[in-house]
Amino acid sequence: MAVIIKLQVLLQRGVLMLARRGVLKGLMGSAMLMPGALGTAKLDAAWPLPRSANLFSDGAALRYGSAVRASDLGEGSQLARLVQANCDLITPEIDMKWDVLQPSPNGWNFAPADNIVDFAQRHGLSVRGHTLLWEQSTPRWLIDRIDARPDWSLIESFFRTVIGRYDHHVCEWDVVNEPIDTEHGHRGIRRNVFQRAFGNHYISRSLREARRLAPHARLVINDYSLEYQNPVDQARRRAFLMLLERLIVEGVPLDVVGIQAHLDLSKGDIAARELTGFLQEIGAMGLEATITELDVKEAIFSEPIPLRDRRVADHVRHFLDVVLAEPAVRGVVTWGLSDKDSWLADDFGKGQGAPLNRGLPFDSAMQPKPAHWEIHRALLAHKVREA
Ligand code: XIL
Repeated sequence: MAVIIKLQVLLQRGVLMLARRGVLKGLMGSAMLMPGALGTAKLDAAWPLPRSANLFSDGAALRYGSAVRASDLGEGSQLARLVQANCDLITPEIDMKWDVLQPSPNGWNFAPADNIVDFAQRHGLSVRGHTLLWEQSTPRWLIDRIDARPDWSLIESFFRTVIGRYDHHVCEWDVVNEPIDTEHGHRGIRRNVFQRAFGNHYISRSLREARRLAPHARLVINDYSLEYQNPVDQARRRAFLMLLERLIVEGVPLDVVGIQAHLDLSKGDIAARELTGFLQEIGAMGLEATITELDVKEAIFSEPIPLRDRRVADHVRHFLDVVLAEPAVRGVVTWGLSDKDSWLADDFGKGQGAPLNRGLPFDSAMQPKPAHWEIHRALLAHKVREA
């Protein structure tokens, strides 16, 4: 053990020395030669990612976007400019969740979600509706009510209100978020408040409800931990496919599988073969896939920033090369654009001067990082292949 730790320390020191001598520049690859990656580019000089074009033979478009919070998206703000330059769809990161929309039974709070949808409308962007049912964003008052008496009309009226208000501008709805649980679940289905009250059928029931209210939007089940080789991810991919198969056999309306893709450098390489197989099965069922919450957890803060950024970029690029090779994948959304606004900042950025996780395409000064260019290249490469 002591030997391993010593080796790690030596390795780290070696990397630092190399960095000081400028040797790392050579290791960082061509992305570092691009203007923005050197940190000298002005915001407006960031190359926009390709806006939707007819990339697929069936005329559908590959879409790219980011999660945003209404509070960060003031007109003319840096984030607003970045979103306009780079995205063709946006996901409300928190503002369309049930606990934000309806903090109390009679108290609705539509303003933040309205602002996001208005912004999208003004700038010609589509919106992913995120998310109708997610235990973690279910208000406490509702959990108590449903636990006391399973009453589907509560779900139905929430769907009616929210879909009714936003559907005109929502291209796809995350109807059920994070239903898979292979460790404590029932047939791979998470035992959450909805499952407790209505059984596993809450999933098909909510999809049917959503289809009735949103006949033209694409309906999504969205989940996490599907990208790596470890036993948990393997089991989750299997459980997800079983759920999808059951739904298809029952004729339940479902269009898209949401793959969150909260990547994590500590989990090793992307399970390329398994992930490809997973996406091909999804395609074979007649479903599409959207990468819905892409970011990278990287927390080796003692390493030089250029090296960390390179690792994140390479990981993202590898992931995108794997998933974009599959025609089922029709969209890529990052979970925020800049590290400063990342939800991972909540985990890692606590306290004055604490280092930020650098897992998004732009740094805290809104400058593009290697990951941005790799996303850009991956989308372009895909476009060339599919066109
Ligand atoms: C997260 C947001 O980023 C946080 O700001 C919020 O506090 C909690 O939710 N999976 C999801 C997202 O589907 O809705 C979550 O977003 C991240 C995990």
